[in-house]
Amino acid sequence: MTPRLEVRNITRRFGGVPVVSEVSLSVMPGQVTCLLGPSGCGKSTTLRIIAGVDWPDEGEIRIDGERIVAPGFFVPPEKRGTGLMFQDFALFPHLSVFDNIAFGLDGTRTEKRLRVHELLDKVGLLRYIDSYPHELSGGEQQRVALARALAPRPRIMLMDEPFSGLDNRLRDGIRDETLSILKDEGTAVLLVTHEPEEAMRMADEIALMRRGRIVQQGAPYNVYNAPVDREAAAFFSDINVIRGRVQGLLTETAFGKFMAPGQADGTEVEIVIRPQHIKIDFDRGGQGPAPSPEHGVWARGVVERARFIGKESLVEFRMDFDGSLLKATVPSVFLPKAGTHLWIAIRRDRCFVFPVIPSKDWRRRAD
Ligand SMILES: Nc1ncnc2c1ncn2[C@@H]1O[C@H](COP(=O)(O)OP(=O)(O)OP(=O)(O)O)[C@@H](O)[C@H]1O
Ligand SMILES: [Mg+2]
Repeated sequence: MTPRLEVRNITRRFGGVPVVSEVSLSVMPGQVTCLLGPSGCGKSTTLRIIAGVDWPDEGEIRIDGERIVAPGFFVPPEKRGTGLMFQDFALFPHLSVFDNIAFGLDGTRTEKRLRVHELLDKVGLLRYIDSYPHELSGGEQQRVALARALAPRPRIMLMDEPFSGLDNRLRDGIRDETLSILKDEGTAVLLVTHEPEEAMRMADEIALMRRGRIVQQGAPYNVYNAPVDREAAAFFSDINVIRGRVQGLLTETAFGKFMAPGQADGTEVEIVIRPQHIKIDFDRGGQGPAPSPEHGVWARGVVERARFIGKESLVEFRMDFDGSLLKATVPSVFLPKAGTHLWIAIRRDRCFVFPVIPSKDWRRRAD
């Protein structure tokens, strides 16, 4: 199947400095792709290039297989069939809800009325058809903006942090509602966000961006559960890192041996563990837990801090073996006191092992 949107090797420099480097991504019809990454990594610049309000120094973009951008070739924004929605979406204050949505529509008065009615019905705001933007709440205005962007049936919706202006409570509901409307309309969506939860909630596919480059692309489940490197793992949650050196494809640590497939003897590796994959057991008056092969070796630590954060507790341990800190999340029924001795093990099947990249090489690889 031809992708609805295909971006190939886009590079954009400002004053000679690359802000977007060799970015390639595609969005299939009816799919939501999230461009996810920290502030300043080049997400908005990529989106603006696709929208046609900026242009690349190198690379090519196609919509439904048709070239819209290539060296020396540029289709103007209004001819691309893209809809735009930005964080500071501005409705026209002097136009009614109806006129705001009908603004970019061609066709007869009847056709326009039908389309506006259809969309207002979908966003649940039909009763506000004759209202003015200032008479609506922030969330309602946001939904009108969505209806306006969808009205001309864009082939692709380009959304840049469209929910970040909304308060938390409103946001989840509007996100889900927006997603179901977008799916219903069958629009391909490229959504920019710096929030991993938002990307996982919305996306069929995540393109993880860092310092101008896409470092990993895949379904949310895969990007979360098989990160390409330590930084990718850390973007989605807190992590714990234990260092070791490889000997015979194994790394010896205070938590037992870990497999380090494909790593040469002597390689320094980092074992990365999310806090929810740490196992905890009681000290039982100094006896400690029985060894359990699937968890490797238990190591003792003392609770430094434990915080209740709703559905779980976050517990920080000071480890006996080297004084390092480890973070674990546990169901919130359990909130140990500071100073308690507990035993910790690591879920073998949920940790990631990466070779340590010396910081100089790391920079070179990333830039
Ligand atoms: N027109 C421009 N001229 C010079 N530098 C620019 C221009 N536009 C963007 N940049 C720089 O490019 C980098 C990437 O900007 P961009 O807006 O794409 O980041 P972003 O990933 O959208 O970040 P955020 O999550 O904060 O919105 C930033 O360092 C920014 O200062
Ligand atoms: Mg941005």
